[in-house]
Parts: sequence; C-alpha cells; structure tokens
Amino acid sequence: MQVISFVTQKGGSGKTTLAFCCAVAAYQQGKEVLIVDMDPQGTAEKWYQDREDERPRLVRLESNKLDSALTKAEDNNFDIVFIDTPGRDEPAIAVAARNSDFCIVPCRPTFADMKATPPTIQTIKRLNKPVAFVLTQTPPRGYRITEAEKGLSVLGSVAPVHTVMRNDYQDSLGVGLGVTEYQPEGKAADEIRSLWQWIQKKMEKNTYAQETNFA
Ligand SMILES: Nc1ncnc2c1ncn2[C@@H]1O[C@H](COP(=O)(O)OP(=O)(O)OP(=O)(O)O)[C@@H](O)[C@H]1O
Ligand SMILES: [Mg+2]
Repeated sequence: MQVISFVTQKGGSGKTTLAFCCAVAAYQQGKEVLIVDMDPQGTAEKWYQDREDERPRLVRLESNKLDSALTKAEDNNFDIVFIDTPGRDEPAIAVAARNSDFCIVPCRPTFADMKATPPTIQTIKRLNKPVAFVLTQTPPRGYRITEAEKGLSVLGSVAPVHTVMRNDYQDSLGVGLGVTEYQPEGKAADEIRSLWQWIQKKMEKNTYAQETNFA
C-alpha cells in the first residue's frame, strides 16, 4: 500500500483539490483508493458527500487515529491512501508526513505562498521522507511560473507538471467529482493525469532505491 500526503501550512494552496483529483485519477485506473481527511474544515468530506459514487472511499479522522486507520486500510487491501491535511497545523502535518511514502507540497506562485513553505519542508526532511512541490493555480504561462520553479528548487524537487487556474477545479469540487470525471477531455483533466503519472513514476523510483539499497 502506498501513502501520499498533501501538506503545507499555507491555507488555500490546493491540498484538498490535488488530493481528491489525484485520488479519482488513481480510482479510474482501477486502484482501491482511500482518502483520509484530517482537516477539521472537512472540505474533502463535503466533496465526498456530494459524490454519487461511493469510491474512492473517504474517512475523516484526527491525526492521533492515523496510525490505526492505515493499518486497517492495509488489512482491507487498499492500494493507495491519499491524506489531506489541515493548513497551519504543523503537528498534524508531521504525523501525516511520518506515515507517508511521498509528500506533495502544493504552492501557488506567489511570494506569500513560497515564503510559507520552509517550515513544512524542514519537517518532512527531518523525517527523511521524499517530497516534491507542485505549483498550483498558476497563470497559463509566463515568468511567474519559471521564477517560482527556480525559487522552490532551492528547497526541494519541483514537479514538472503544474495546475493552471481553471474553473474545472472549482466546479468539480462543488459536485463531488474529480476533474478527470467532470471534464475528461479538458485541460485540467490532462494536468491531473500527467501529474498523477509523474507521482507514480517518482514513487516507483523511490521504492526501487529503498529496496535495492545499492548505496
Ligand atoms: N488549479 C486551480 N484552479 C482554480 N482553482 C483552484 C485550483 N486549485 C485549487 N483551486 C481552488 O482554490 C481554493 C483552495 O483550494 P483547496 O481547498 O484545494 O486548498 P487547501 O490547501 O486545501 O486549503 P485549506 O488550507 O483551506 O484546506 C478552492 O476554492 C479550490 O477550488
Ligand atoms: Mg483543504
């Protein structure tokens, strides 16, 4: 079972959106997927309540229940768990990161968002967990993206796929769908499929490196 968490202190950066969109993309591949909503705001849970399909499954819990929930998820043959975490709650972020195989840090290409990432990155690095930034809510193109990529790459690896500011992300949240279900031929759906593919490849490489331990 693989565990991926979406973490950053900065509110509104796109944690929940990336979590449910990637979870749906994995579900559409035929994986058994569980979303864990650790945010007291319950945005992912609200999304799930508006969803007709009961899959991917979603549970809402507090960080002190995460360990046992992951054991149960493994017993119940889930393939992948996506953890959506609360912003501004460093202890909860640390619990999620400690239990994850890969941490994704969403970040808008703004000065305020980029300034807010170091504490989260330090927590993840202290735990020795693989981590990557994903730029979100970007303009379609332009220097803001390249400047943000350059700035973030000093702190850690940056996914080559970013999500542009698009209505599909906001509208799919309101109707309990992932963007790949909401508008499968749309640009947002393309972004999420590419991002999910990249995350999977990255995780395969990490697993290989850990299991072979050539170093
Ligand atoms: N690529 C995007 N394009 C347009 N809107 C987006 C995009 N990504 C996220 N959003 C919107 O931005 C808002 C914040 O996103 P989201 O709720 O995913 O962030 P969050 O990091 O989970 O926030 P919080 O810290 O409050 O939990 C939402 O209204 C969401 O629909
Ligand atoms: Mg959220």
